[in-house]
Amino acid sequence: MKWTALGVFLLTLIISYNLVDDFDPGVLSGKRVLVTGASMGIGEQMAYHYAKLGARLIITARTESRLKQVIERCHEVGDRNGDYFYITADMEDYRSAHAVIEKAEQLLGGLDFLILNHIMASPLGEWHGSAKNLTLLDKIFDINFKAYVHLTSHALPMLEKGNGSIVVVTSIAGRISQPYVISYSASKFALDGFYSGLRQEFLLRNIDVSITQCVMGLIGTNNAIKGLRDFGVHFLIDKFPTADPADAALAIIRGGALRLKTIYYPFVEARFTTLLRDWIPSALETLVRFCFQRS
Ligand SMILES: NC(=O)c1ccc[n+]([C@@H]2O[C@H](COP(=O)([O-])OP(=O)(O)OC[C@H]3O[C@@H](n4cnc5c(N)ncnc54)[C@H](OP(=O)(O)O)[C@@H]3O)[C@@H](O)[C@H]2O)c1
Ligand SMILES: *[C@@H]1O[C@H](CO)[C@@H](O)[C@H](O)[C@H]1NC(C)=O
Ligand SMILES: *[C@@H]1O[C@H](CO)[C@@H](O)[C@H](O)[C@H]1NC(C)=O
Repeated sequence: MKWTALGVFLLTLIISYNLVDDFDPGVLSGKRVLVTGASMGIGEQMAYHYAKLGARLIITARTESRLKQVIERCHEVGDRNGDYFYITADMEDYRSAHAVIEKAEQLLGGLDFLILNHIMASPLGEWHGSAKNLTLLDKIFDINFKAYVHLTSHALPMLEKGNGSIVVVTSIAGRISQPYVISYSASKFALDGFYSGLRQEFLLRNIDVSITQCVMGLIGTNNAIKGLRDFGVHFLIDKFPTADPADAALAIIRGGALRLKTIYYPFVEARFTTLLRDWIPSALETLVRFCFQRS
């Protein structure tokens, strides 16, 4: 009984701590922000929030027509004459990652927030070690991992000037491996390996650039839902309320603005699964297999 009460007390404490809102939206006004993968999904929603919050914005992705539409909408929800730009770039090619940062410097004269969000859309599938699987693995690592590192490396001098921020959008799949998306999972684990260590180096070297990792649960973007449905993984989409991309986008923006080390969104789903990984690993693995059953 005593333990239950203590548990409830601690849980309430953790949850209320995370609900305290110390985010002052005014701090983003005039900030120079680059969001990758903003032609759709969570990145698109981040663009609208940043525009509303008065930021100066550059968005990137491959599809120019979509980027144009997002910029138009930014002018509608934000400032009619706001500084909103897009750059088309394929992040599979490191030279374009470099070019994006150079262009950003020309357009905004510097950078305060680098939001690394893009991912390669890849269908779910079993790992057979086939040539097809291996080619896909290379592509996923180039786009989801190495491009982030290249963008960070080129942008760092600009970020250092204004004590800026790097925000890395990652996933529960980057903390707990999930079946049928193992290359994606591995690329997200790699981000943790790289950015957690880089954060430590910054602290040791007195570099005041914050690094925020955003551990996201299932968010109802078209690609995420379609990917699961096409592969017959219905349980996760039918039995769970999927989080709204616009809410997820705001949680990421808030975490970056507060210079938090890690954010979990949706909090309970992402935080507790990550904790359970260490507390009761086998039970969690059973639960994951159950969630990923095909029907
Ligand atoms: N949705 C979820 O359930 C969920 C869960 C956990 C974590 N996350 C994370 O949240 C972030 C956003 O996910 P999302 O669901 O919003 O993704 P999404 O809707 O699939 O959007 C991905 C974005 O990346 C761009 N992109 C794809 N390939 C690219 C390439 N080769 N070069 C440059 N840009 C490329 C896409 O635009 P183009 O096709 O026009 O290039 C698009 O703008 C990701 O980091 C993801 O891992 C999402
Ligand atoms: C791996 O390769 C096999 C055989 O080519 C294919 O059926 C499967 O869908 C591939 N898996 C992924 C994740 O692409
Ligand atoms: C950045 O932070 C350092 C100390 O952490 C401080 O001395 C410097 O003035 C800050 N620069 C800007 C532009 O805020």
